[in-house]
Formats: sequence, C-alpha cells, structure tokens
Amino acid sequence: MSTQAQPTSDLESWLGLLTVQDLETDPDPIFARLRAEAPVAFVPAIQAWIATSWEVCSRIADDADTFLGGTSPVHERVFGTPHVLGAEGAEHKQLRAAIDPAFKPRAFRAQLDATVRPAAEALVEKLRGQGRAELMADYFEPISVRCVGDALGFAAVDDDTLRRWFHGLASGIANIMMDPGGFAAADAAKAEIRTVVEAMAARLVDQPDDGVVSHWLHDGMPAGSVRSLDGLYPSLHVLLLGGLQEPGHACGSTFLGLTTRPEQLARAVEDPAVIPRALAEGLRWIAPIFSGTSRIPAAPVELAGRSIGAGQTVWVSYGSANRDESQFTEPQVYDLDRAAQRHLGFGRGRHVCSGAAFAPQVARIALEELFAAFPDVRLDPAHEVEVWGWIFRGPRQLHVTW
Ligand code: HEM
Repeated sequence: MSTQAQPTSDLESWLGLLTVQDLETDPDPIFARLRAEAPVAFVPAIQAWIATSWEVCSRIADDADTFLGGTSPVHERVFGTPHVLGAEGAEHKQLRAAIDPAFKPRAFRAQLDATVRPAAEALVEKLRGQGRAELMADYFEPISVRCVGDALGFAAVDDDTLRRWFHGLASGIANIMMDPGGFAAADAAKAEIRTVVEAMAARLVDQPDDGVVSHWLHDGMPAGSVRSLDGLYPSLHVLLLGGLQEPGHACGSTFLGLTTRPEQLARAVEDPAVIPRALAEGLRWIAPIFSGTSRIPAAPVELAGRSIGAGQTVWVSYGSANRDESQFTEPQVYDLDRAAQRHLGFGRGRHVCSGAAFAPQVARIALEELFAAFPDVRLDPAHEVEVWGWIFRGPRQLHVTW
C-alpha cells in the first residue's frame, strides 16, 4: 500500500482520520477494529505500520530472518543509535551480554531480601498514618526506580532524579510527530545521565563490578583497555526508560485491575501467593510497553494480506495482542483466574525483555508490602482514573485511601 494512495475503503478513510491523540487516549476500540479488519495496517498519522493481532505479533517476533530489530526516527532521536531494540547480530549479542547478567535470577535473588523489600518497607512507612496517597507517584514509581536503579548501578542517584529521567525520556518517545520543542525533557535527562555514568565509569575502570556499565567496559577487552561508553549510551537510555518505568506501570495496572474485581482484590490481600497470578493478568490486561517496540523487514514481505516494503517500521502492539479475542475470552475483563496465564507483555524472540524475571519480583514485593500494611486500600472515588498511552500505557494517577 502506498502511503500517498487515496482512501479506497471505509477502513482506509477511518485509518486516515486516526490521530496520535486517539491512540493515546483510547486505543482499545481502535485496536479491536484493526485486529478484526486489518491486523497489519498502515496508519498515516504515524507514517508506519502497526501489527495488532496475537498471531501476527508473534510471527513478527519469531521470524528473525525476515524482521530485524526495530527503530524509528523518534527512537533514534531520543535514544541514539545503535540501541539494543534495533541492534542485530554481534552488536546485539554484545549489548545483551552486558545487560543480562545483572537480571538473571541467580544474580538478583539475594537483592530481593537485601534491598528490594527494605525499599518497599521504607516507602510504606512514609505513607503510614496518612490514610491516603497517590499510589503511582508516592509508591509504585519510587519502588520501581529505586530497585531497578540499584540493580543498574545507580544506587547513589535519588528516587526523584530517576523518576525525572524516565518521565523525560518517555515524553521524548511519545513525541512521535517529532515536534522539535518536544525533546527538551529527554535531552536534559540524557545530559544528567551522561554526567553520572562518566563518574561511575571512572571508578569501574579499576574496580569492576557485576553491573551493566562494568560488563560493557571490560568484557572481551584486552587487559588494560576498556570499551568506549559511546556504544552503550543509546541502550542505557532504553534501560533507563523502560526498565525504570515499567515495573511501576505493572504494579499500577495490576492494582487497578484488582479494583475492578473486589473479590479478587480481597483474595490478593489475604493470600500473597495469589499476587504473581494477579500480576501476570495485569501485564496481559494493560501491557506496560503497549506498542513501544517495532521490527523492520529486511526485504519486502507479505503479511496479513499487506505488502510491506523493506526498511519500513512495523510497530508491534503486544498490548493489542494481549487483548486478542481469538486467544482470550472477554479480553477486556481483568480476571486473575484465567486458565491460560500467558501474555506477550515482555515480548518474545531474541529481543525479549531483559528484565522479564526481575521486574515481576519487584512488583510482587511492592504489592505484598502495600497489602500487608494497608489491607483495606481502595480507590478514592473522588478521583477518576485516567489510563493513558499507546506506546507505553498505564494509569497516570491512582488516588487511594485506607
Ligand atoms: C514490567 C516491567 C517491564 C515490561 C512489561 C517490559 C516489557 C518489554 C518489552 C515488551 C520489550 C520488547 C520486546 C520485544 O521487542 O519483543 C522489552 C525490551 C527490553 N526490556 Fe523490558 N520490560 C519491563 C522491565 C524491564 C526491566 C526492569 C529491564 C532492565 C532494567 C528491562 C530491559 C529491557 C531491555 C534491555 C529490552 C531490549 C531487549 C532487546 O531488544 O534485546 N525491561 N521490555
């Protein structure tokens, strides 16, 4: 399909009228129509393709020969290149070899009791006695940034700075129309990140540890020399956006889902063993990285009846795939008792999320401590909940009382 073609059907006319704001505010009906009528569709507003069904998203992620790691002008503007999401071959392997060791269960197991739970306990203590909170800003985001930041080697950077970094980077990626004024917060975050990482690297040259920056500097390098940080920054920006932000989104969406099923919320509060199932369903119900990843065909390809040119960006909407009616009964309903507890919230294939084992553990501990401290926590009906975003998605604020 040519991007300049005149609309030839209702579907194409409708696609031509879609705006980024439509996608951000209410993607569910849009993606439901796309899954039914055009599971791969060119969306003029973003000048790119979106894949929306479970089958097509899975096929794209699994077919490593046809679909290369994805990038887009906005990814390159915000993260720089090459970044891990778009890298392939030896370059991708080298980046994953630096990132993955810190997020293997044997590496982080001890950290769960030593730092993650104490961090959650300390945040809960700050809230105790208040009777109310805005859970995203007061609890889920701080615990997310603290625990992922520590694991990444940013223990000396305070919670508010880490939150400012991911909000800044996220606002840059959401600026998909590339408004030149829309990158200021992302650029400011990147400048701060560079200052902190340079100081960190100066120490790690002589005192390596098991963190991402250290592995990058040293692994496979001849004695006495280290790898340039320039090749790491773009992927560090990916980590400092998705890694810092998404465990918080996972907690928020799971909590929100549970509030739609008071009996399930009560079970999760009474029995912490239920929380991992509740989280898996939260990640299915509202995938935090909703459509934030993409692939690029190496050669022209036919997909779901569409011809896609080599090099064109195909956004892979795992958030939509997670609501595919062919895979889930009543997919729009949150239900932790679903028989099949599978979802594509962490993606799949060789670009599958590096934090897929760690993030659910952080989120589990956050919810365990919250429910233990405030068993009657509930949404404050005075505040409406806005769930926002189509690249990243989650509740913006969760006002609660207890
Ligand atoms: C609940 C929280 C999280 C969710 C839902 C999530 C989800 C995702 C998704 C959907 C992708 C794209 C996969 C694909 O393209 O097939 C991804 C990639 C990635 N994630 Fe996460 N993520 C989370 C937390 C984290 C954390 C804590 C880290 C580590 C600090 C992390 C590191 C990465 C990296 C490095 C990639 C790129 C992998 C590659 O391209 O090879 N993520 N994540």
